[in-house]
Amino acid sequence: MRSLLLGVCRLILVTTGLLRFPDALLAASAEPIPGLASVLRSGPASDHRSADIIALYVPAGQPATPFLPAGPVSATWSGDLTVDLRGDYTFHAAFSGKLKLLINDAVVLDSEGRSPSWVDSQKVRLNKGANRIVAEYSGPQKGDSEVRVYWSGKEVPFNPIPTAALSHSTNPDIERSDRLRKGRDLFAELRCIRCHAGEGSMPELSADAPSFSGIGSRRQFGWMARWIAQPASLRTDSAMPDLFHGPDAVGQSEAIAAFLASLKTATPSAATVPAPNPEAVEAGRGLYEKLHCVACHVAPDSSEPAPGKIPQKGVRSKFAPGALAAFLRKPSEHYAWIRMPDFKLSALEATQLAAFLESVADQPSLAAPPADESILLKGKSLVSSSGCLNCHSLDLPNAFKAKPLADLKPESWTSGCLAETPSADSKAPRYALSAADRAALGAFGRSDRSSLNRHSAADFLARHSVSLHCRECHGKFEGFPAWDLLGGKLKPEWASRFITGSESRKPRPWLESRMPAFPTHGAWLAQGLATAHGLPPVAPADDAPDAELAKVGHQLVGSSGGFACISCHSVGEFGATQVFEAPGINLALSHERLQPDFFRRWLRNPVSIDPNSKMPAYFDEEGRSALSEVLGGDGPKTIRALWEYLRLGSKMPKPE
Ligand code: HEC
Ligand code: HEC
Ligand code: HEC
Ligand code: HEC
Ligand code: HEC
Repeated sequence: MRSLLLGVCRLILVTTGLLRFPDALLAASAEPIPGLASVLRSGPASDHRSADIIALYVPAGQPATPFLPAGPVSATWSGDLTVDLRGDYTFHAAFSGKLKLLINDAVVLDSEGRSPSWVDSQKVRLNKGANRIVAEYSGPQKGDSEVRVYWSGKEVPFNPIPTAALSHSTNPDIERSDRLRKGRDLFAELRCIRCHAGEGSMPELSADAPSFSGIGSRRQFGWMARWIAQPASLRTDSAMPDLFHGPDAVGQSEAIAAFLASLKTATPSAATVPAPNPEAVEAGRGLYEKLHCVACHVAPDSSEPAPGKIPQKGVRSKFAPGALAAFLRKPSEHYAWIRMPDFKLSALEATQLAAFLESVADQPSLAAPPADESILLKGKSLVSSSGCLNCHSLDLPNAFKAKPLADLKPESWTSGCLAETPSADSKAPRYALSAADRAALGAFGRSDRSSLNRHSAADFLARHSVSLHCRECHGKFEGFPAWDLLGGKLKPEWASRFITGSESRKPRPWLESRMPAFPTHGAWLAQGLATAHGLPPVAPADDAPDAELAKVGHQLVGSSGGFACISCHSVGEFGATQVFEAPGINLALSHERLQPDFFRRWLRNPVSIDPNSKMPAYFDEEGRSALSEVLGGDGPKTIRALWEYLRLGSKMPKPE
C-alpha cells in the first residue's frame, strides 16, 4: 500500500473550484485529472464536475448542488482506478438508495442500501495499471441521500479509494458546468447584487466591504485616492470596480479620498506606536516564515511573480501609523468577509510582524489631503451618489440606483458592466475582467439564475478552499494535517469551532505554525468537508456507552499490560512519557474531534491512511490485536474498548 500511495501521490491535484483562476488553468487539458468525472441529476437537470472521491451527502429537502433543484438525487461517477500491482480487492459501500458498481464493465455490486450498514462487493481482480470504474447511484425518494465507496485488498485495509488512485479526462459537459459555476462565483465575489438587487440564499450574496466609519484613522489619503481611481492598479484580484472614468476621474477620486481621510475615530491609534527596532524586525521576519504568510502573499523580499497572491509592498503607503499592527491582530474588525484570516497574534507578535513588513516595504508616497472645505463636500456628495454605499457602509444617504437583477435581460450580459469596450458616457462601473471571466458571467446571466437561491456546503468548500488557499498550507508543509483526510476524519462540529477560531485547544502544540481562523467562512467549510466525504453535516448521536469496555480501554492505553499509547500521546493533563518518539494528539480530544469510523480505520493501520505516520500498527493483516490476552485478541473489540475509554474525554482516568 505504501508504494501505491507514494506512487500516485506524485500526481498534481487539480482543484474543481474555479474562483478567479488564471485563465490558463481553465483551458481543456488532455492530461488525466485526479478523481472521477461525475454527473449529478435531479429531475431533468444535470450538473457535471470533477469529483475527488465517490462520496455524496445531501440532506433531505436540500439541493445536491446549486445547479439542481432539491428532490431525489442520482449520480454517476466514472474514470480509471489505477493500481501498482495486480490483485484481489473488495469494494464496500455505505449508502441509502440504490448503488451499482462496475469494474472493467463487469457489475461487481448492485444493491439497495440503508446507511450506516455496509454492503460488500464480491472479490474483484484489478489489473496492474488502469481499470475502468463506474458507480451509478440513485438516492431514496424520502430522507437524506448519501453514499461512500471504500475498498480493501491484501495490502490495502478498509479505506476510501484515494483521489490519487483515480483519474479521468475532462469533457465538454464538465467544461460547460465549470463555466456556469465560475460565473455564479464571480457574480457573488464581485458583489454585482449590491447594485443589481435580487434575492438569494447563497451565503456570499450578503458579503460586505470594508466599513468607512473611522477609515481616516486607518488608511492614508494618497493610497485611497489611487485605490479609488483604479483598484486593479494596486491589486490584480480586487473585487472592487472603477467607478470614475470621465475627464475628472482623478479629481473625483481625490475628493472622495479627502472626505474619507477626514472620517477619524476619537483616539488616533498613532498615539500608541512604539518606534521600530532591529530586534523587532528580525523577530517579525521569523514569525512571517513560521506562520507561512506566503501561502497567500507574495514574499515581501521576492521579485518573482506569484499569481493569485496578495502583494504587501505598499503597506507604508496604505496603513496609517499604528494601523498595520491593529489590522494584523484582527483583520475582520471592519470587514467580516475579508479573506485574510486571523492568526490570533499577541500584541507583541503583531508589532513585530508590522515592523518586519514596514522594513521591507516600498518607500511610501504620502500626500497630505487637501483641507479645502469645498473638496471635502464634493467628496461627501460623490460617496452618496457614485455607488460606494451599495457595498461600503457609512451613515449617509445613498442616492445611487441601478436596474434590479430581474430586469437584466439575458441578451444584455455583454453590455453595461460586461461590455468589452465600454462607451465613454456609460455610468456602469468597470471591473478588470478577463475574456474567460466575461464568458463565465455571460453563461451565468443567460441561465435562469435560480442557483443564487440554492446553497450546498460542498460547493462552498470547493470554491473557498481555492479562494482561501487552504491547500497552500495543507499538503505543502511537513507535519501539517493532510488536506484529503480532513473531511473523513473530523466531526463537523469540532471542525467548525476550529476553523472559525472559537476552539482554543491546539491539537498539535508542538508545531511552530498555527491554523489561522476564518471566522465568517468556517462553519460552511466544516459542513462541506463532511458532506463532500459522504458524511452528514451534523455528527449523528452516539450509541450507548459501555463502562466495562472503557475499563479495558483504560488498561490498553497505559504501559502496564497495554499498548503504551501514552509514550506519544498525552491524556488530558497527563503528559506523554516519551514525546521525542513522535508527538501524538492529546487523546482527551479524540472523541470530540474524530469520526468514529476514522478512529477505527486509523487504529487498524495508520500508515495506510498517512504514509508518513510514525504511529505504530497494533493489528496484524487479519486485524488481530498484538495483545492476544486482552479480549481474546479480537481486533474490532479491542479498538472499540479504546474508543469507549477515549469517549470519557476530559473525564478519562489517569492511564497506568
Ligand atoms: C456600483 C454598482 C454596480 C455594480 C457593483 C454592478 N453594476 Fe452592472 N450596472 C450598473 C449600472 C449603473 C448600469 C447601467 C449602465 C448605464 O446606464 O449605462 C449597469 C449595467 C449592467 C448591465 C447592462 C444592463 C442593460 O440592461 O443594459 C449588465 C448586464 C450588468 N450591469 C451586469 C453586472 C454584473 C454581472 C456585475 C458584477 C460583475 C455588475 N453589473 C455590477 C451598476 C452596477
Ligand atoms: C489564507 C490566506 C492568507 C494568509 C495565510 C495570510 N494572509 Fe494576509 N491577506 C490575505 C488577503 C486575501 C488579503 C487582502 C485583504 C483585503 O484587503 O481584502 C490580505 C492582506 C494582508 C495585508 C494588507 C496588504 C495590503 O497591502 O492590502 C497584510 C499586511 C497582510 N495580509 C499580512 C499577513 C501576514 C503578516 C500573514 C502571516 C501572519 C498573512 N497576511 C497571512 C490573505 C492571507
Ligand atoms: C461592488 C462593491 C464595491 C463598490 C461599488 C465599491 N467598493 Fe470599495 N471595496 C470593495 C471591496 C470588496 C473592497 C475590499 C478589497 C477587495 O476585495 O478588493 C473595497 C475596498 C475599498 C477601500 C479600501 C479599504 C480598506 O480598508 O482596505 C476603499 C478606500 C474603498 N473600497 C473605497 C470605495 C469608494 C470610495 C467607492 C465608491 C467610489 C467604492 N469603494 C465602491 C467593494 C466595493
Ligand atoms: C497558513 C497555513 C494554513 C492555511 C492557509 C490553512 N491551514 Fe488549516 N491548519 C494549519 C495548521 C498548521 C494546522 C494544524 C494546527 C494544529 O494542529 O494545532 C491546521 C489544521 C486544520 C484543521 C484541523 C485538522 C486536524 O487534524 O486537526 C482543519 C479542519 C483545517 N486546518 C482546515 C483548513 C481550511 C478549511 C483551510 C482553508 C480555509 C485551512 N485549513 C487553511 C495551517 C493552515
Ligand atoms: C510512536 C508514537 C505513537 C504511539 C505509540 C501511538 N501513537 Fe497515536 N498518533 C501518533 C502520531 C504521530 C499521530 C498523528 C498526529 C497528527 O495527526 O499530527 C497519532 C494519531 C493518533 C490518533 C488521531 C488523533 C487525532 O485527534 O487526530 C489517535 C486516535 C491515536 N493516535 C490513538 C493512539 C492509540 C489509541 C495508541 C495506542 C494504541 C497510539 N495512538 C499510539 C503517534 C503515536
